[in-house]
Amino acid sequence: MTDQKTIQAYNGQVDNYLKMVGELEVDPILLRFIDRLKANDYVLDLGCGPAIASAVMRDKGLRVDPVDAAAGMVQLANDKFNIAARQAQFSDIDTTNMYQGVWANFSLLHAQTEDLAAILLALHTALVTNGVLHLGMKLGQGAKRDKYDRYYAYYSQSELESYVTGAGFSVLQVELGESLGMAGDIEPWIVLSCIAQ
Ligand SMILES: C[S@@+](CC[C@H](N)C(=O)[O-])C[C@H]1O[C@@H](n2cnc3c(N)ncnc32)[C@H](O)[C@@H]1O
Repeated sequence: MTDQKTIQAYNGQVDNYLKMVGELEVDPILLRFIDRLKANDYVLDLGCGPAIASAVMRDKGLRVDPVDAAAGMVQLANDKFNIAARQAQFSDIDTTNMYQGVWANFSLLHAQTEDLAAILLALHTALVTNGVLHLGMKLGQGAKRDKYDRYYAYYSQSELESYVTGAGFSVLQVELGESLGMAGDIEPWIVLSCIAQ
C-alpha cells in the first residue's frame, strides 16, 4: 500500500529534490543500464521523481514510461522534459511482457516491506524474458521515517538478493556506495542489476 505521508512529503519538497539531483553528472550506472538495452526498447521508470533518468534514456534512443505517485513530481517531470510522465503507484503495475527494462532507482525503498515481494513479481511479469531490472535501495535493517516523514525500508544485500531471485530474476551485478540524501544523512546504498529469467 502506498504510504501517503511519503507522497505528501515529495509533493512538498519538489523544488528541494530537484535542487539535490538536478545538477548531478549523468549516473554511470544509468549509462551501463542503457548499454544493456537496444534502441527503441521500452523502459518503465518506476518512482521517476523529476524523470531525469527518463530524459537521458529518451536522448539515448529508448522509449520511456515514467511513473510516480506524487502529482507534484509528475508535473515537474512534464514541465521540465515534456515526457508524458503519469501518476501511478507501485501497485498499479499490472502489465505483461510490456517492457525490456525497469529502472527502479531509490523508489522501492518507500514500499512497505511486506509489499516488496509482490511488487517485484509484478515487475517480473511486466518485463519480457531477459528484460533488465535496475533496483537501487538503501542498506540497513528495519524501517523508519526521516525528518520529512518519508517511510524507508532497509535491507541487507543477502535479503535483497533473496527477494529478486524469489521473484524470478538472476543477479548480474551488485554495486555499493554511500551518498548524502535530502534529509542530510549519509547512508549506504546498493544497486542490483538483474535479468528476468
Ligand atoms: C528518492 S525518489 C527517487 C526518484 C528518482 N527515481 C530518482 O532517482 O531521482 C523516490 C520517488 O518514489 C516515489 N514514490 C514513493 N512511493 C511511491 C509509490 N507507492 N508509487 C509510486 N511512486 C512512489 C516518490 O514520489 C519519489 O518521486
